[in-house]
Amino acid sequence: MDYNSLQVATLDGSLRDAIAARGGRPVVANADDPERVDAFIDGLARDDIAVLLLTEPEHIRALLGRAAATGRIEVLLDAVRQIAVGSAGPACTDVWRNHRLSVDFEPDGTGGEALVSGMARLAGYLVNKKRTAVDGGVDTSYWHRTDMRWHFESDPYGTRGESAFLRACRREPTEYTPIWLLRQAGRYQRAYRELKSDLDFLDMCKTPELTAEITLMAAERLGVDAAILFADILPLLQPMGFRLEYVTGQGPVIHNPLRSAEAVDQLEEGEPASQHFVYEAIRMVLPALPPHIPLIGFSGAPFTLAAYAIEGQSTKDFRHLKTFMYNDPGAWHAFMSKLSRTVTAYLNEQIEAGVHAVQLFDSWAGCLSPDDYRAFVLPHTGYVFSNLRRGVPRLHFGVGTGSLLELMREAGGDVIGLDWRVDLAEAWRRLEYDTAVQGNLDPVILFASPDEIRKQAAAILHKAAGRPGHIFNLGHGILPGTPEDHVIALVDAVHEMGSGR
Ligand code: CP3
Repeated sequence: MDYNSLQVATLDGSLRDAIAARGGRPVVANADDPERVDAFIDGLARDDIAVLLLTEPEHIRALLGRAAATGRIEVLLDAVRQIAVGSAGPACTDVWRNHRLSVDFEPDGTGGEALVSGMARLAGYLVNKKRTAVDGGVDTSYWHRTDMRWHFESDPYGTRGESAFLRACRREPTEYTPIWLLRQAGRYQRAYRELKSDLDFLDMCKTPELTAEITLMAAERLGVDAAILFADILPLLQPMGFRLEYVTGQGPVIHNPLRSAEAVDQLEEGEPASQHFVYEAIRMVLPALPPHIPLIGFSGAPFTLAAYAIEGQSTKDFRHLKTFMYNDPGAWHAFMSKLSRTVTAYLNEQIEAGVHAVQLFDSWAGCLSPDDYRAFVLPHTGYVFSNLRRGVPRLHFGVGTGSLLELMREAGGDVIGLDWRVDLAEAWRRLEYDTAVQGNLDPVILFASPDEIRKQAAAILHKAAGRPGHIFNLGHGILPGTPEDHVIALVDAVHEMGSGR
């Protein structure tokens, strides 16, 4: 993880050593010395500089001001289009953007050191991406991630099909253990909070330009092996007649929860076309996604959607849901059948739009006994899995489902999700190595030190024992407040340690 001999230019002399320490060749000019700044612009224009690091708004003004004064603003802009530009924080980014120029990387923390080290990790990738874009005629002076166009071979599926993530889904050997993270985009990231700004979450979910950008942002920043579409499981309930709102500080609320058999009869079957914003986002993400990174689509599983629809909000004991289920099994199965058909149609539309894998989130199934899971859930989840279009791997996720793993396998899925409450080695043995597995770090460990994170990740890799078919992940989503650099430390640790198969 270094600059690998790239020339790294900055007007901040204090970064010289940090750049060199990470394998870059520093090119530094004093912003107060116009002649040096001229020479600096010459250097950028000569095409031998690959990275530009901006740490002070005054430096940016000096650079742009000098270029304008000497009639070379176009020369500078032309150079910048091909260079990976990093900004130390929002103040620099704003100045740069006000000149309609884009920053390619801004660290979550602020300051020169965070910029140098964060950019060191991504520089090679970002330079390659930008040059590929320019070769393909994309204007990169002011652009979004969704503007990117990768060159694809004649068979675009060929390269992705061989990606570590898809190979692991098929239980084929991989060079390293692939990793992606549940909720890899979210409030823990400043980049996410800035993109979201003060938008309502539901409005945001329905704006494909934004969800596509967030999907790409998270995969790029973390360097994970798969992207997951930025969306949520609950908007699918809206076309069935449920009034959904995300209440700040409380989470999702259904204002008209389902509590009677008559209400089940009156329910609309969810029309998959209603989720057009999801398919549009998929189509926007695909051409901009690096050729070796697959895109995961997803849906809530029928049971987890039913839990929200009946409870109306998050709950500890699921008493409305279970009361409904036990008191009126007929109505329960009718409701679950409607949900299953809706979920199946929704996932099939996502597959049609081009996702490379689908994950079914049964986040709350862990509240059930094995007998109840078998009687009330398995037939419906089974219906979904057996009616999905063939050809893409299916991941089956649950939390607290340690006692249900065999039943989840029976319901379906090529990959079974494990949370941290189970021992990965034992769980996989119980599954008879007949599926791939995904997991299973406790997300709270990401608050501990990077050393501890590394140790815990090593323990999980040890349990997987190099057996083909392990996808590293958390047992549940990244929590708000998690330091982004700890998340990155995990990704890098897994990539470094999980190799040599
Ligand atoms: O993983 C990703 O990066 C993709 C995005 C994603 C979201 N929700 C975004 C989101 C995914 C895969 C989901 C799935 C989801 N949504 C599940 C299943 C996975 C799980 O966590 O068990 C569930 C149960 C939901 C329902 C839901 N949506 C809840 C309980 C909440 C509130 C909790 C919270 O973190 O605030 C949401 C809102 C939500 N979904 C947010 C995000 C980023 C937070 C919105 C915000 O305030 O910015």
